[in-house]
Amino acid sequence: MPKKIIITIDGFSSCGKSTLARQLARSLGYVYIDSGAMYRAITLYFLRNHIDWSREEQVKEALCGINLSFTFNEKSQQSEILLNDENVEYFIRDLIVAEQVSEVAAIGQVREFAVRQQQLMGKQKGIVMDGRDIGTTVFPNAELKIFMTADISLRVERRFKEMYAKNPNVTIEEVKANLELRDYIDSNREISPLRRASDAILLDNSNLGIEEQLEFAISLFEERITAVPAS
Ligand code: CDP
Repeated sequence: MPKKIIITIDGFSSCGKSTLARQLARSLGYVYIDSGAMYRAITLYFLRNHIDWSREEQVKEALCGINLSFTFNEKSQQSEILLNDENVEYFIRDLIVAEQVSEVAAIGQVREFAVRQQQLMGKQKGIVMDGRDIGTTVFPNAELKIFMTADISLRVERRFKEMYAKNPNVTIEEVKANLELRDYIDSNREISPLRRASDAILLDNSNLGIEEQLEFAISLFEERITAVPAS
């Protein structure tokens, strides 16, 4: 059996975590899990079903009706999230969801629900997971942890381009306000706030190309995997 490790990528909104995580997983033959997609799908369910998430009972009941899974889209070569067997990848990227997701993700019951599933997905190792608390709470013993950041103006520009392609009514001001608000809520919530784990490697990709950041991550991986004892 080849040695396998867990790789965590945490960081601020829209700094390229998923791009790096996806490419890294593909290069290594690992599974990529977008933990943010899980919180987005839960938020979509709450919005569609008019759940009042300030009420514990409603949240508890709603979570019982949610089944999350991932499927691999051969055409786009990307993994996509299913909410109760419906592919909701397109809908969870809407601003309507982005505007509420950090509030929903701060709820204790929601985090317990998502973290439990994330930990199960990592049981066999050979996984790259990106998010906010993956290196601190979900896999505190992960062999390789990366913490990503980038200049806020670059992050806004990148996310605006993505969102504008889907919806030309979106404005750059809305996107900027959303990223700033989410970073604030994610960093200041009580449970598992966004933090750089003390053993996470900092990666500021403001001045790095996609290829360069991938090379950097692969070199970190090679260094770590040689240190892992054969099982
Ligand atoms: O793609 P982007 O960086 O903008 O966000 P995302 O990874 O899709 O995550 C959406 C939201 O889910 C974040 O702003 C957090 O509020 C929440 N989240 C979280 O609380 N914990 C995680 N491990 C991942 C996401």
